[in-house]
Amino acid sequence: MSSNSHPIRIAIIGAGAVSDYHHVPGINIDPRAELVAACDMSEALLEQRKSDWGIDKVTTDFQQICDDPDIDAVIIATPNFTHHEQAIAAAKGGKHIMCEKPLALNAQQVREMRDAAVEAGVVHMTAFTYRFAPSMRYIRHLVQSGAIGQPRHFRSQRFLDWPETSWGWRQYKKTAGAGDLFDMTIHRIDFAMDLMGKIDKLCGGVAQFCPRDVTTDGESCPPSDVDDWSALIGVFENGGVGVWEGTTVAKGYGFNGFGHELAEINGSEATVRYRLHEPNKIWLGKTGEDVAPVDVPEEFLKPADSPRDPHEGKPADVFRYDLVWEFCSAITEGRDAMPSFDHGLNAQIIADAVLESNESAAWVDVADRLV
Ligand SMILES: NC(=O)c1ccc[n+]([C@@H]2O[C@H](COP(=O)([O-])OP(=O)(O)OC[C@H]3O[C@@H](n4cnc5c(N)ncnc54)[C@H](O)[C@@H]3O)[C@@H](O)[C@H]2O)c1
Repeated sequence: MSSNSHPIRIAIIGAGAVSDYHHVPGINIDPRAELVAACDMSEALLEQRKSDWGIDKVTTDFQQICDDPDIDAVIIATPNFTHHEQAIAAAKGGKHIMCEKPLALNAQQVREMRDAAVEAGVVHMTAFTYRFAPSMRYIRHLVQSGAIGQPRHFRSQRFLDWPETSWGWRQYKKTAGAGDLFDMTIHRIDFAMDLMGKIDKLCGGVAQFCPRDVTTDGESCPPSDVDDWSALIGVFENGGVGVWEGTTVAKGYGFNGFGHELAEINGSEATVRYRLHEPNKIWLGKTGEDVAPVDVPEEFLKPADSPRDPHEGKPADVFRYDLVWEFCSAITEGRDAMPSFDHGLNAQIIADAVLESNESAAWVDVADRLV
């Protein structure tokens, strides 16, 4: 419940894929939350969402949502280029904000969003989904408790086999900022810093292999100007090192649309590995053993007080509902959300530095840029 004892009245801005996949289901299982409105540019989609989501209040104008005294919080899940304007308007309207990643097109925009939210005193959260995987929660505990010793190497692979047709708004710098780097690798930059601490310096690269100048309907469209492969090598403040690689054009990595994801840390005592598609397990190994699966203990399968049954639904889907749980917990408890816009800003600073390194063909020192 919010402070004056009605449920937290949430509006969705951007009623597309990700809102339907896990934000609205997350609201539906949280007794403290109520979905009260939706905003989208598409009137046809809003009509459909009225019945899909059981709401009456819909609008194509996000400012109406921001001005509405009967809305407490917003979830912004529109294309990347609109987040900046919408988040600042929501902050000015006194709404708590969960915003999708990447928070904006560059770090300067993100800084302005963060400042607006801080000034308004609202809860601000970045939708970095994979922090919420049970395996990730457990790995975080193992790293912080010293169970793997000193963390030395971080490694992340995210390989997808996407069609070479148009990605719509996702394939242009002016609407997406960057391609695989801002869409996929930015999550892995965030969880790496959550596990290993801040990055001090990095060297990065991006590349594009497919023009994607034909839509899925076979019509021609302007060619993409963003990357479909991104990589970086980073050195963490704690002396550890990291290697990240992401691609959306890895043939043979379809795996029912889920692709391949692996992230691991080699510590001085043990290796721990996360795989997105089996989030209720981790892989663990020490010298003399081979890395092998271990079940995530029950206490890490969901947030402590959440009513979600962690044994219900597909594990790789249902942990995503915990984002709304965290957002509402932060609002109810009057504390910062985790991850906040600060974490979204740090990940954006690193992602921007990857593009800078790619341009300059040089290492980039980021130590003094992070918040
Ligand atoms: N955290 C995650 O795991 C995750 C997963 C998928 C997408 N995302 C992010 O979520 C955002 C949305 O992605 P998606 O896949 O749902 O995209 P989508 O294209 O399916 O949905 C976006 C919706 O926003 C609407 N829209 C566009 N401009 C608008 C505006 N000015 N005002 C209101 N509505 C507008 C579109 O009509 C569309 O319905 C992106 O920032 C993306 O990076 C995050």
